[in-house]
Amino acid sequence: MSLPDRPSPCRVVVLVSGHGSNLQSILDKAQTPACAFEVVGVISNEPTAHGLKRADHAGVANNIVHHLDFESRDAFDRALGAAIDRHQPDLVVLAGFMRILGTALVGAYTGRMMNIHPSLLPEYRGLNTHTRVLADSARCHGATVHFVVPALDAGPIILQGRVLVMPDDTPESLAERVRQVEHQIYPTAITWFAQKRLSLVGQCAYLDGLPITP
Ligand code: GRF
Repeated sequence: MSLPDRPSPCRVVVLVSGHGSNLQSILDKAQTPACAFEVVGVISNEPTAHGLKRADHAGVANNIVHHLDFESRDAFDRALGAAIDRHQPDLVVLAGFMRILGTALVGAYTGRMMNIHPSLLPEYRGLNTHTRVLADSARCHGATVHFVVPALDAGPIILQGRVLVMPDDTPESLAERVRQVEHQIYPTAITWFAQKRLSLVGQCAYLDGLPITP
């Protein structure tokens, strides 16, 4: 008797710009038995991004779309969109991707594009979150996975992970603790999506048919 076919895994493309530790956590998860997704491509806008080496090491197709090769933001977005589309992804995952994407590209992947941000959104949108959290003497910090919408760091929230801010924390120590949390929550959110438990309906993310309220 033959076993019933498993559904084909969700095809994930990851965009990176740098170190790629989140990419690594996603690649590691993809290697676990019966994982619901596979990473079919990694794209970097930075030729020297360490994330490209991680993709190579994992045997995942990877390429560079260098933003400096394009004369306009739109031209870069079009080239990036074409590079993404070539992989025919079900989901596009921004993992430390340091370019702002235009409305057309974001719109083409509405409900199928996620980002991770190092703060408890909607607090601390933008850059240098750890430094700003320490300057404010905040007690709690963390990371947020959200669907991508045209407005920066403003999309519907999927999942958050929290850390306590310690009295002796530096931006670096805080960043390191937040990163540990990111490496847990990002593969989890991608798995939910791949298992078809997660969707975007209007302005709200739903898990198992219920709205996610952070
Ligand atoms: C992470 O802190 C992520 O939240 C932010 O950029 C950083 C990327 O780190 N968007 P890495 O390249 O995944 O190590």
